[in-house]
Formats: sequence, structure tokens, C-alpha cells
Amino acid sequence: MANPTPPPLRGEFCVETVPQSCGLVIFGASGDLVHRKLLPSLFSLCEKGLLQRTFYVLGYARTEMSDDDFRATVRADLTQRFPAADPAHVDSFVACCHYHVGGYDQPADFAALARRLQQLDAQYSLSGRHLFYLAVPPTLFGAIANLLRQAGLTAETGDTWARLLVEKPFGRDLASAMALDRELRQALAESQIYRIDHYLAKETVQNILVLRFGNAVFEPLWNRRFIDHVQITVAESLGVEERGGYFDHAGLLRDMVQNHLLQLLAMVAMEPPVSFEADRVRDERVRLLRAVRPLPPAEVVRGQYTAGTIAGHPVRAYREEDKIAPDSRRETFVAARLWVDNWRWQGVPFYLRVGKRLPRRVSEIGIVFRPVPHSIFAPLSQEDLHPNVLRLNVQPDEGVALTIQAKHPGPRLCLSRLTMDFTYQEVFGQEPPEAYERLLLDCMLGDQTLFVRHDDMEIAWSLFTPIVEAWEAEGEPEEYAAGTWGPAGADKLIEEDGREWLPL
Ligand code: BG6
Repeated sequence: MANPTPPPLRGEFCVETVPQSCGLVIFGASGDLVHRKLLPSLFSLCEKGLLQRTFYVLGYARTEMSDDDFRATVRADLTQRFPAADPAHVDSFVACCHYHVGGYDQPADFAALARRLQQLDAQYSLSGRHLFYLAVPPTLFGAIANLLRQAGLTAETGDTWARLLVEKPFGRDLASAMALDRELRQALAESQIYRIDHYLAKETVQNILVLRFGNAVFEPLWNRRFIDHVQITVAESLGVEERGGYFDHAGLLRDMVQNHLLQLLAMVAMEPPVSFEADRVRDERVRLLRAVRPLPPAEVVRGQYTAGTIAGHPVRAYREEDKIAPDSRRETFVAARLWVDNWRWQGVPFYLRVGKRLPRRVSEIGIVFRPVPHSIFAPLSQEDLHPNVLRLNVQPDEGVALTIQAKHPGPRLCLSRLTMDFTYQEVFGQEPPEAYERLLLDCMLGDQTLFVRHDDMEIAWSLFTPIVEAWEAEGEPEEYAAGTWGPAGADKLIEEDGREWLPL
């Protein structure tokens, strides 16, 4: 493919590596995520010149389809997503896409897959470097890994490699996640398993580490002496859309808190790693998660949306959505107060809130600093001086904002709050790339920094399994109307500490 070289970032230091060529096998190739995220991300990497010219995609699924049928679906995805793309680039990408019909439980199907990969490797002059992406239900993960091993597709020798990318949900609780993990690790080494949490690959989430450890001004303040509390909000205006069947089985705690929210917390609160190597960064994330105090179910608020209005449009109640049980007790909102028991964070609450059908899509981390110790601006008291807040906007207006106190111009002493901020769009002139671009690229490069390690996953499940179990056993979520910021219990949780949610 012709790959235009991206313009260099303005005089900044850039570490960029183009991975070795490889074949990408996508199990569950007809799935929504594959067409919405995965293939467009791969195309975008090609357009940026971040992939070798020789690579291929092999879609694998039970659905009968020819190479040409599959290519037609890929072309439709790309032309819809990149209307301005050069048609020649689309053509050459589509030509690299192939399709293979097969099931997920028969050794014969995997032997046939191995033969097909041999043919494709020969056609593309590649030698046994394969990335297997599991976009299938987790109940199939173990069987697929095992059949890949039996077919000789997981062996690594010299210059060849085999890597397995797995989507969440990774288990339903600690026991099932550990059982699944054992199955995967019987077939592959930990260094071959890439567990996805796409929040870790969001540009702004990675930027947390650069902000903290690439600048000297923040880190000295980044502790209990200067920070009063931290708020992490992930709000979505969407409901469960077409994923009712999955969601009503999982609920939001499993879907987003145990993984995305906890990883955001780890990035904000972890200690500096000794280097930016994958395992050094992951060691620190794990060390931080080990310090999170187990939280009693009673301290976690769960909510479920009823009918309401979002952006002027009426929306249905959760229980009236497609494929949702009419008496479902699943939570679509969670708020929690977490404590991190270590020297840096002792006594600093971390408030998390996440919900579906909230007024708008916004994900933000707010670091609220302690107030000044004394006001010299009488009659203004200490309480009149608003504490500084550093807001890390994860999406949609990716950027950073710091609120400070400033004197209003004029003879009188008038203080007002102002914001120093930047957005990625303004500074870099481009939207941050899709998280899946980074995940695919890193997996091809063999860099596991942004993937969840087995101990990371284990701790996350041990923290939240008691809560999912308690919620399965009894109780009901609190109601909140769609288009509001969640149930009353979420406000009570923070207000009982004398604080309030930051306005979004
Ligand atoms: C997914 C959850 O992992 O993350 C979805 O399964 C959620 O329920 C999605 O909507 C949110 O991701 P993003 O990148 O749109 O914030």
C-alpha cells in the first residue's frame, strides 16, 4: 500500500517504530466492533505510514462468505468512515483482506486455518507472524486458544511469533476470570496474551503519565498534602443500544467499573515507574491496585435509568429497552468512594461515577487541590477562595484545564476563577487517534504496556467480586431519570463528606 508519511509533530520528540509485517486473523469477523473499530483503525494506521506495506487480514467466522463478500463489507465500512480517503488506498487495503469459514470447536477447522495461513504467508512473503484477535464471546476464548495450540499456531521460534488479543468481558467474577485465564495460559505464555482495556489506549489516558512524569511541576503536589480528593467521571448519553442481551447479563460494574474506571484510577494514582518499559509500568499499576482498600457493597451506589429526555429527545426506560428483562435489577449507573492505603494517598477519597443515559458524553478526571490555608484577602474568607482544580478531559474535548484564582482588573480587590486550558484539537490540529489503532500497533510491536496483565486483572476482580455477588443476591438499583446525572444516592455519597460533584 502507498503510505504517506505523517507530518512530524512540531519539533517534539517522537518515538515511533514500524512493526514487522504480520497476518491478522480476526475470529468473529462479522461482529460490530470489528467493522466499527478494528478495520477502520487498521486502515488509519496504514494511512499514517505506521504499518509495513506487506500485511494481510484474515476474517474468520461461521458465516458463509467469500473473500469478495468480505471485501465488500470492509470497503463499505471504510468509505463510510473515511469519505475523503484516496480510493486507491482503499482498494489496496481491501485487496489485503481475506475470509475463511470455520467453527470454533473442531480441530479440523483449525488445521484448515493453519493451511490457509501457510498459503497466505507464502503469498505475502511472510513467515509465521500472526496476531489472533478474539472478537467472539468469552465462552469461546479457551477453546480457540487450545485449538490454535493444537494446530501448531501458537509456537514461537526465532523470528516468528503468535499473539492473542482478547476483548473484555474477561470473566464474570474472580473465579470465572481465573478459570479463563488458566485456560489461556495453558495454550500461550503470558507474553503472548494481550488483554484489552481500550481505556488504557486512549490518548488522553496515556497523557496522564506524561503530564505527571514528564513535567516537574505536578508530581511534588501529587499527594495527600496538596490534593483534597479526586473525581473520575465517565458519562454516556447512550443507553445499551443493540447490546441489551450482553448488558443485562453483565451490568455496569462488570462492563466499565472493574476495568475502565479502575485503570483510570491506577493511572492517576500510581507511583512513577523506573522506566517506560511494559512490565515496569504494569508493576506500578498493579502495586497501586493492591493498595486500594476493599470496599463494602453498602458504600457503592447503583442506579438504573427510567424514561426521560436527552438533548430534547424522549428516551425509554432501561427495562423497556430491547432484550432487557422487564423486571431487570441490572445497574446502569455506579458511584463509589475508594481509598488507597499507601503513604501518598492516605485519607484522600477517590470518587468514581459512571452511567448510561446521563445528560451528555463526557469522561473527565478532576484533581481537586486543598484550599489555601488562610485568606489574606479579608473580608474574603478562606472558604471564598475556590480550590484549584486540574481537569483531565478524557473525551470528547480531549485536553487539560487548570482553574486558578485571579484578580479581576480594576481598583477593587475582586477575585474570580479562571481557567488555563488546552485541547488536543487546538494544539495539535488533529483529533487524538482511536484507541484501537494504538492497541493493534502495540500488539504488533510486542509492547504490552497498555494491556492488562494477569495479576492486574486478578486484583481488579477481587475488589469487585464481593459487590457483584452482593448485588446478585439482593436489593434493587435506585432509579434515576434518563438525562439526569444519576440517582440521589450518588449526590449523598459525596455530600456526606462535605463535597460535591464537579459540574460537567
Ligand atoms: C465498553 C463498554 O467497554 O466501553 C460499553 O462495554 C461502553 O458499554 C464503552 O459504552 C465506552 O467506550 P468509549 O470509548 O466510547 O468511552
